[in-house]
Amino acid sequence: MKTYLVTGGAGFIGTNFIYYLFNKYGSNIRIINYDKLTYAGNLENLSEIPDDYRKNKNYIFIRGDICNEKELNILFNTYNPDIVVNFAAESHVDRSISNARRFIKTNIEGTHTLLETAKNKWLNKNKWKKGKLFLHISTDEIYGELGKSGYFSETTPIAPRSPYSASKASADMIVKSYFLTFKMPVIISRCSNNYGPYQFPEKFIPLIINNCLNNRKIPIYGDGKNIRDWIYVEDHIRALNMIIEKGKPGEIYNIGGQNEIDNISLAKNIVDIVAKQTGINIDDSLIEFVNDRPGHDYRYAMNISKIGNKLNWKPEYLFIEGIRKTINWYMKNRNWLNEIVNGEYKEYYKNMYENRIG
Ligand code: NAD
Ligand code: DAU
Repeated sequence: MKTYLVTGGAGFIGTNFIYYLFNKYGSNIRIINYDKLTYAGNLENLSEIPDDYRKNKNYIFIRGDICNEKELNILFNTYNPDIVVNFAAESHVDRSISNARRFIKTNIEGTHTLLETAKNKWLNKNKWKKGKLFLHISTDEIYGELGKSGYFSETTPIAPRSPYSASKASADMIVKSYFLTFKMPVIISRCSNNYGPYQFPEKFIPLIINNCLNNRKIPIYGDGKNIRDWIYVEDHIRALNMIIEKGKPGEIYNIGGQNEIDNISLAKNIVDIVAKQTGINIDDSLIEFVNDRPGHDYRYAMNISKIGNKLNWKPEYLFIEGIRKTINWYMKNRNWLNEIVNGEYKEYYKNMYENRIG
């Protein structure tokens, strides 16, 4: 039975990834979800995992920090993971501008601690144990920003511009160095902006939806002309699974939605769709321009020909399909939204299913 160690599995993409794996492989796999449960991690996200999977130890949650070497050592000794998927990170650019310290700690030091632990457990007398893989989840932001034209490819030089992207870029370099120096079986994936269920409503799309549902103003940074390439989270996750199954150690794979849009057009579109889908009486007057994000990257866009040619992956969701599913999910889960937004996140969820080791 393959054992996955998923770090940051109580966050947005990690949660979606865990459900995807269980839907695909059922009880033929074991997943250890190792998460610190920062403000962005929510155990309630995983409450739909069948009880049998918990009882039979197909799913194990451990609350912990990827900076904690001692705990990670025990975890590796106890569960001997085959695949490490490192989602754990501080992920919000605005927070990295207010205070970068935790970004440096988790994204750089934490990634290194996890990598080093895996190396020590997987390398035996100068030979790598078979069937092991360390997949590091990175981002298009490490490439910096684009002007009106051009695309990032895997060989585009790294040129991050925010404390968040600089911390992610540093982690990428360290992960890559373990392949170049030790031949450790690592792969790096770099994806564009995700949206979908379980995304914390500080990020732009769930923030727009949440504010529409509550008739609140939607802040647009600067002139609203900055461009992002949006991908439905399930497409990202399908790509990650293909990378695990067929990707080549030492490689980097770009993943993107091929769906570029500027922020003001995106906000107007979503207001319009939410109004039609819900019957709530809202319009563009909810939108207000506010001060720009310092160092705001103008545009990201991905060249995804490598993953297309090598692994035969391409995004499948049309934006309209993905966004309708997302809006439906947030409408059905207004309690989730209210708990998160109003800070009513219940302590007992933190203790439910919780194991401590070390
Ligand atoms: P998120 O903020 O929703 O979740 C992060 C998770 O990591 C949370 O559950 C949090 O509790 C956990 N965590 C934080 N610090 C930790 C630590 N020290 N030890 C253990 N767990 C810790 O983030 P997300 O949007 O799901 O992103 C996941 C990964 O994907 C991140 O590495 C991010 O850089 C990357 N990424 C995100 C996007 C996007 O659009 N959201 C796009 C490309 C790449
Ligand atoms: O590109 C991948 C990255 O996408 C990930 O690595 C990050 O973890 C993720 O947070 C995201 O970063 P962005 O900064 O692009 O996402 P965010 O949702 O914060 O902002 C998207 C765009 O919307 C950006 O141009 C800033 C703008 N924005 C954002 C917010 C929160 C606004 O105009 N108003 C807002 O209130």
